[in-house]
Amino acid sequence: MESLQGLLLALIIMVFGTTTHLIQAQPDPKDFISLDCGLHPAASPYTEPLTKLTYTSDANFTQGGQSGRVQKSFEEDYKPFTVLRYFPDGIRNCYNLKVILGTKYLIKALFLCGNYDGLRDAPKFDLYLGPNIWTTSKWQDGPVVATTIRVRFPPCGNYSASSGHQSGKTTPIISALELRPLRDDTYNTTSGSLMLFKREFASDNFSPPFIRVNASTPYELPQEVISKAVVNQNVTEKLSFDWYVDDRKDQAFIYLHFAEIQTLRGNDTREFDITWEGDNENFTVSAYLPPKLQLETLYNPYPMKCTFLECTVELVMTKSSTLPPMINAMEAYKIIDFPDAETNPEDVAAVQNVRDTYEISRIDWQGDPCVPQMFKWEGINCSYTNTTIPPRIISLDLSSSGLEGLIASSIQNLTHLQELDLSNNNLSGEVPEFLANMESLLLINLGWNSLAGPIPEALRDREKKGLKLTVQGNPNLCLSGSCNNNNEKVLVPVIASVASVAALVALLVLIFVFRKKTPLAEGTAAATTRELPRKSSIYSRKKRFTYSEVVELTDNFKRVLGEGGFGVVYHGSLNDTEPVAVKVLSESSVQGYKEFKAEVELLLRVHHINLVNLVGYCDEGGHLALIYEYMANGDLKQHLSGESAGSTLKWASRLKIAVEAAQGLEYLHVGCEPPMVHRDVKSTNILLDDRFEAKLADFGLSRSFCVGAETQVATVVAGTPGYLDPEYYQTNWLNEKSDVYSFGIVLMEMITNRSVIELTREKAHIAEWVKILISRGDLEKIVDTNLGGDYDSTTVWKILELAMSCVSHSSSDRPTMSKVVNVLKECLISENSRIKGGQVQDDDSKNSLELNVDFGTQVTPDAR
Ligand SMILES: *[C@@H]1O[C@H](CO)[C@@H](O)[C@H](O)[C@H]1NC(C)=O
Ligand SMILES: *[C@@H]1O[C@H](CO)[C@@H](O)[C@H](O)[C@H]1NC(C)=O
Ligand SMILES: *[C@@H]1O[C@H](CO)[C@@H](O)[C@H](O)[C@H]1NC(C)=O
Ligand SMILES: *[C@@H]1O[C@H](CO)[C@@H](O)[C@H](O)[C@H]1NC(C)=O
Ligand SMILES: *[C@@H]1O[C@H](CO)[C@@H](O)[C@H](O)[C@H]1NC(C)=O
Ligand SMILES: *[C@@H]1O[C@H](CO)[C@@H](O)[C@H](O)[C@H]1NC(C)=O
Ligand SMILES: *[C@@H]1O[C@H](CO)[C@@H](O)[C@H](O)[C@H]1NC(C)=O
Ligand SMILES: *[C@@H]1O[C@H](CO)[C@@H](O)[C@H](O)[C@H]1NC(C)=O
Ligand SMILES: *[C@@H]1O[C@H](CO)[C@@H](O)[C@H](O)[C@H]1NC(C)=O
Ligand SMILES: *[C@@H]1O[C@H](CO)[C@@H](O)[C@H](O)[C@H]1NC(C)=O
Ligand SMILES: *[C@@H]1O[C@H](CO)[C@@H](O)[C@H](O)[C@H]1NC(C)=O
Repeated sequence: MESLQGLLLALIIMVFGTTTHLIQAQPDPKDFISLDCGLHPAASPYTEPLTKLTYTSDANFTQGGQSGRVQKSFEEDYKPFTVLRYFPDGIRNCYNLKVILGTKYLIKALFLCGNYDGLRDAPKFDLYLGPNIWTTSKWQDGPVVATTIRVRFPPCGNYSASSGHQSGKTTPIISALELRPLRDDTYNTTSGSLMLFKREFASDNFSPPFIRVNASTPYELPQEVISKAVVNQNVTEKLSFDWYVDDRKDQAFIYLHFAEIQTLRGNDTREFDITWEGDNENFTVSAYLPPKLQLETLYNPYPMKCTFLECTVELVMTKSSTLPPMINAMEAYKIIDFPDAETNPEDVAAVQNVRDTYEISRIDWQGDPCVPQMFKWEGINCSYTNTTIPPRIISLDLSSSGLEGLIASSIQNLTHLQELDLSNNNLSGEVPEFLANMESLLLINLGWNSLAGPIPEALRDREKKGLKLTVQGNPNLCLSGSCNNNNEKVLVPVIASVASVAALVALLVLIFVFRKKTPLAEGTAAATTRELPRKSSIYSRKKRFTYSEVVELTDNFKRVLGEGGFGVVYHGSLNDTEPVAVKVLSESSVQGYKEFKAEVELLLRVHHINLVNLVGYCDEGGHLALIYEYMANGDLKQHLSGESAGSTLKWASRLKIAVEAAQGLEYLHVGCEPPMVHRDVKSTNILLDDRFEAKLADFGLSRSFCVGAETQVATVVAGTPGYLDPEYYQTNWLNEKSDVYSFGIVLMEMITNRSVIELTREKAHIAEWVKILISRGDLEKIVDTNLGGDYDSTTVWKILELAMSCVSHSSSDRPTMSKVVNVLKECLISENSRIKGGQVQDDDSKNSLELNVDFGTQVTPDAR
């Protein structure tokens, strides 16, 4: 039998259950899927010379991976073996192929490593068909695997330790993937699918020229295969072949393909008995005569178990025969089961739609979302009742995922969803009504987005029935039922004169809600926020830049914006449109490269309207840079001193900036998981964007950074002198209240417009100095004269009081940032109503909860 050639290892799955589309006619070659994995799309498609089939690139069917090429000495005649795709990233990589439901497929996955990486690494990885393991690819020089399938989500490989290799893990590879629909009346089994053990056919052994066999049988073997046959020239000998199974319990099937290809003379006959002795049963066909030039396939109708792992089939010439037995081709399979059900297809479609809507490109978000369970998508939980019952998606966590736009309507198709977390994104638009109709929902977190408008009444009703709804941190969301901001555009021109009243009404509502939501007991807000599920999730857009990209986007470091804590900051622009600030870090500022990377990865996930957004970073070959959104209007300190605009900020503007900065800080303390301490809150770290929206900069970095130039304190304690919490300084024990202390100092700067440390003053430190003046009742001296008395003194004293409590020596006496935010908001609201109601103001009146305050219009000359 040397003449029989080993072909490919293959596997066949039978389709059970819904057979919606049986193929009885010959399958159409246009339904064949033949992918040459790793093939460059420009070289696709091509006609394979041996099989004459059309192969295409796999680029459209998989997300990850890179192209490799086998070394010359490994190249095979079969062209798809030349290039391959390897998957260096992710624990699971998938191909998604559309197949006809209910149809039996032959699936082949082909692998030829060919030392593509020059490492002679022996890949070892698992191959899955949907949720079910198919095989583990153990590497030799040129193995091949194949199967059939009934599902949408075919093979996924995962890394595994490779024996005998120091690297520990190996990278999955694949050379080609082929799917052939099969007729439903072929490869019958009683249960399960079929895995190919052995498939053999004749090479050039016995092949009369120019014969043509009628191959129109369900099994459709290629003409090249059946127009040749194997015989034993020694007529006295029987023809036999054998193979081995892995397990005595394996159930085997053989398919024997015959066609008489020899022209027999009148008195010649070819007749033989076929026997296969099994453990459980014998398979015998007596006095078989292969039909003339006509393919026929024989198989055992019941599964056979082999004796002692060895299966032997014998073809023995009968006494009346004049010619020896022959065979054209044989295939031996065993039954394998793919018992686990795929995720409910509607859930799959819905979650894929969500993924595509938001362009989420997490590496693990491919293939089936729920199964195999150990590879389920991050951020998703499913119900697994019983492996034969399709899992359902029961929770979806897309918090901190950089989502923008409306809340995707496809979410409503996740009908079994119990928990939905969309917090910490930049979702806009209204809270959709459909959420109220999703009956399984128990928890919805929409916090920290940019949602606007009212909350649907139906959703409020659900809340009364126990639904936990979180909408905190959406400044434009209308929390009472009585707002109708839809009419804003129409109303403004018409009722401009009463707009201020409308604003007042809206604001009063807001106050009411805030009061009601956060009763005076501090920490309630923080506690409720912490309860929320806020798991980390990977936010993956392009975040990592090469050094040459940094050079390009800064136009070769052309424009210096300033010198920050850790290095020089340059102006740059992304795609020539989006301005950015690029902070090039001096190497000495980074204490540990690993910490730097971990910290940056963490910061990339933090998104809040009042925090300067980290857009990306560069860490190539000793070049370290952080890329931030560009803040067009500098920092708070410049504006207080009048250094930038030549005039100083009005009181209401200062309050607004304080509210915004405080919100950013509150978010770091209670909105982030894990909570973060800023460590370097100061007026130069409060930046203003082109719309004079305040954002905190440089948060979270001090853990792995020495705080740079401004720090004279040469200790391990990070922070800037004057702003540094004395308790932290003494105990070296850092917590959120240290930020509260620093923020209190900023509030004092805001009120006084004096330097934090001024050696020529009675008391050098601003807190000490303010304290002395208060004790003397010298209040007028405290307030910045540039304000020209244009403020409501009650709010100023209230802020002063707040600032004093923030700088309490003992951290336990300091308020939380949530409390600080509330007090500041109340003061801002009353200051704005003072401006709008009292003094005659310009027509800067918008019916909006987002207070628009003018900047730089004050003409009071700077005192200095
Ligand atoms: C990928 O899909 C697109 C759109 O259907 C098609 O235009 C393109 O030719 C496909 N590429 C390959 C390599 O098949
Ligand atoms: C694939 O990954 C799973 C989970 O990490 C592991 O249990 C399994 O052993 C891996 N496969 C191989 C071939 O190592
Ligand atoms: C295979 O099974 C189908 C239905 O189960 C049956 O109709 C068909 O005749 C069988 N084919 C063969 C060749 O036995
Ligand atoms: C080929 O075989 C099929 C099935 O046995 C038969 O219907 C058909 O007539 C044959 N064709 C020829 C050309 O003999
Ligand atoms: C055929 O096989 C028989 C039995 O094995 C052997 O005795 C005989 O020599 C063989 N004949 C040829 C021509 O090889
Ligand atoms: C078969 O017939 C041929 C002539 O047609 C003859 O030479 C040969 O001996 C016969 N063989 C047998 C076994 O009868
Ligand atoms: C199979 O055949 C062998 C040998 O002819 C015989 O000993 C055995 O009993 C048979 N087994 C069954 C299950 O018929
Ligand atoms: C999934 O369920 C587990 C166990 O109940 C829980 O710990 C985890 O937080 C859930 N994950 C999501 C994304 O809801
Ligand atoms: C799964 O559910 C099916 C149908 O309800 C049942 O027949 C089967 O026994 C269950 N399997 C397990 C492992 O519980
Ligand atoms: C929801 O599913 C239905 C079918 O079940 C489909 O027609 C509809 O387009 C889906 N809606 C969304 C928004 O995906
Ligand atoms: C949020 O989205 C709005 C547009 O909907 C955009 O103007 C704003 O810049 C985004 N904010 C952040 C922090 O990405």
